[in-house]
Amino acid sequence: MKENISLPPKPTSISFSLSLLFLPLLAAATDPVPTPWPLQFHSILLMNNTKGLLQVVDLWYDWPNGRNFNIIQHQLGKKLYDLEWDNGTSYYYTLDANKECKIRHFPVGILRPNWLDGAKYLGQVYRDGFLCNVWEKVDFIWYYEDVATKRPVSWAFFSGMIGHVMTFEVGQVLDDPNWQAPVYCFEGAKQEHKAVLELPFEYRGLVREFLSIPMVI
Ligand SMILES: *[C@@H]1O[C@H](CO)[C@@H](O)[C@H](O)[C@H]1NC(C)=O
Ligand SMILES: *[C@@H]1O[C@H](CO)[C@@H](O)[C@H](O)[C@H]1NC(C)=O
Repeated sequence: MKENISLPPKPTSISFSLSLLFLPLLAAATDPVPTPWPLQFHSILLMNNTKGLLQVVDLWYDWPNGRNFNIIQHQLGKKLYDLEWDNGTSYYYTLDANKECKIRHFPVGILRPNWLDGAKYLGQVYRDGFLCNVWEKVDFIWYYEDVATKRPVSWAFFSGMIGHVMTFEVGQVLDDPNWQAPVYCFEGAKQEHKAVLELPFEYRGLVREFLSIPMVI
């Protein structure tokens, strides 16, 4: 996985802090900036990994509670629950008779509402029939936002995997009981430590999200 991700070299601390200070100001004077994510929303996404694999993902983003859920339905296949906590722990499980569960530890929390800050503006294109502003972040993700409503329309990963935003309900929150991983996650489930430590902090959240959507069943 790691070999396929071409990321730019880590910036020095000086240029990094300078760019943090000045880039947003410079950008604001000229280019549109992406709308930050609402603190809580529910979205239904159609994912297409370009190799014929389709998934419908229920995304429940819940920043105030430090949690994010991807409920991933493979076409005519498995339903996978990817429950992510801001402390870096992800529970990855099924709720069927197989009772599968894997625990993953990432050295990064969930995506910040402003995770698109500093993305490079590329202009406007039509995407899925919507006129969109497009930004690119660290050669990892391309993000399409509806010019008229500022809602996300689509995003594409470097791998070719594309997400299409089918619904976007701001303020929708999944009830607490649904955020409880099943008991078999706590009975010696396999634990994995995902090393994305070499990457600058702002990229790691993206890598966590990317790794959460399986490329194969
Ligand atoms: C998925 O992507 C492939 C490759 O780009 C494309 O041929 C196919 O039509 C797409 N399927 C859907 C349902 O979007
Ligand atoms: C992170 O929070 C979740 C939910 O409260 C908990 O189950 C998990 O054990 C925590 N992970 C760590 C490393 O503390």
